Amino acid sequence: MTEKSQSVDGGVETEQGSDSLTITDNRTGKSYDVEVNDGTVRALDLRQIKTDDDDFGLMTYDPGFTNTASCRSAITYIDGEKGILEHRGIPIEQLCEKSTFLEVAYLLNFGALPTEDQLADWVYQVTHHTYVHENIKDFMNGFRHDANPMGMLLASVGALSTFYPEAADIDDEWQRHVTAVRLIAKVPTLAAFAYRHSLGMPYVYPDNDLSYTGNFLSMLFKMAEPKYEPDPRLEKALDVLFILHADHEQNCSAAAVRVVGSSRVDPYSAVAAGVAGLYGPLHGGANVAVLRMLQRIGSVDNIPDFLQGVKDGNERLMGFGHRVYKNYDPRARIIRKHVDEVLEATGKPSPLLQIAIELEKHALDDEYFTSRKLYPNVDFYSGLIYEAMNIPADAFTVMFAIGRTPGWIAQWMEMMQDEELKIARPRQIYTGPRTVDYVPMNER
Ligand code: CMC
Repeated sequence: MTEKSQSVDGGVETEQGSDSLTITDNRTGKSYDVEVNDGTVRALDLRQIKTDDDDFGLMTYDPGFTNTASCRSAITYIDGEKGILEHRGIPIEQLCEKSTFLEVAYLLNFGALPTEDQLADWVYQVTHHTYVHENIKDFMNGFRHDANPMGMLLASVGALSTFYPEAADIDDEWQRHVTAVRLIAKVPTLAAFAYRHSLGMPYVYPDNDLSYTGNFLSMLFKMAEPKYEPDPRLEKALDVLFILHADHEQNCSAAAVRVVGSSRVDPYSAVAAGVAGLYGPLHGGANVAVLRMLQRIGSVDNIPDFLQGVKDGNERLMGFGHRVYKNYDPRARIIRKHVDEVLEATGKPSPLLQIAIELEKHALDDEYFTSRKLYPNVDFYSGLIYEAMNIPADAFTVMFAIGRTPGWIAQWMEMMQDEELKIARPRQIYTGPRTVDYVPMNER
């Protein structure tokens, strides 16, 4: 950034067509040129703008990071206005139709689609890392019978760092790779163990003969039968759901992984931070909140009253709205198509589906929602699929976490290669008192 002198008549000389921004500080009358790259200015360039030598310099203020790019990333592209989502440039619609979850996990992490041999090797590696240390079972048993599976997942992903202390060697390429494989392979096992624990049922060990989703269904639902045979329609639907959740650029949980990972902690701990971020009802926890909301509405007739409550500010329409999408979330459109297939496969009619469809229609016809560009997001219909699969609501967010794991890892891997990586450490505007004398207890 360069400082510019102001012309005598007070006007500022500008260089039209250059990739820069001229800022005039009206407090001092000084002007500055700030470089513009990729539609952004560097926040640190503003630091030079001072009222005098003692001034700290200008900062930006951006609660919730609504207009701050925190990194450069080549993983996921979103155009929120148009409702476009691409991974490594490939539209989500094509991935859901033609790819598999493990292939998408490879794509996210290695940057390109695998060859046949590469994919076979990748699937082999993931399949052969699904077992967890036996002590994890003991650890799981320590949770209360009604422990939320997401809380259990959060704790057990963090605990993996104690089983694989070598993962702390984050500069070692092999350690980074094997940790990625282990996380993608073991998160479904931990998730299924958490689910079985909540039902008081024995844990089911992974079955390497089955597909990634088939094995997960087996670990969830296998009873006394010697071999669990997953319904291929459910296997496919679950695979698509996992693809839809695989990554979503700098969302709350991915940002948490990057922020925590920037301290150079091991990747299990960084991913545990992502699980924690996802747990919240404004992020991955919204899928549970949607189901509870639909149950509370109870009947199509109650929709107008419910929406009035939302418009009066008493509550939020869960599964609607998104920080980035100001159009229909493309993931919601794809999920919607799969709801009917799953209901057909399970043979379970869903009274809540009718309420969801009507609720969507009413909201999309209402000026309150259209003027704020609030459309269904990925969580609006996903819970209905999980419910049809007999997965209890408390475990919905765990399903999201399995899908998101390759994205968290890809974000972490990319961060590790970033030459501009610095420990995340935001600034603040201090609003409290200064230099206050300590008051002894007997004088308060
Ligand atoms: N219901 C009612 N009003 C809403 C909703 C909603 N779901 N979402 C946003 N608004 C209103 C909000 O009240 C505000 O209105 P006003 O301008 O009058 O104050 C306006 O729309 C902008 O909302 P915001 O809170 O500033 O938007 P945000 O970008 O900070 O929040 C969000 C994004 C996803 C947290 C929010 O839309 C929300 O709470 N949605 C419901 C929870 C949900 O479904 N979350 C899942 C998100 S997708 C999956 C994922 O990434 O995890």
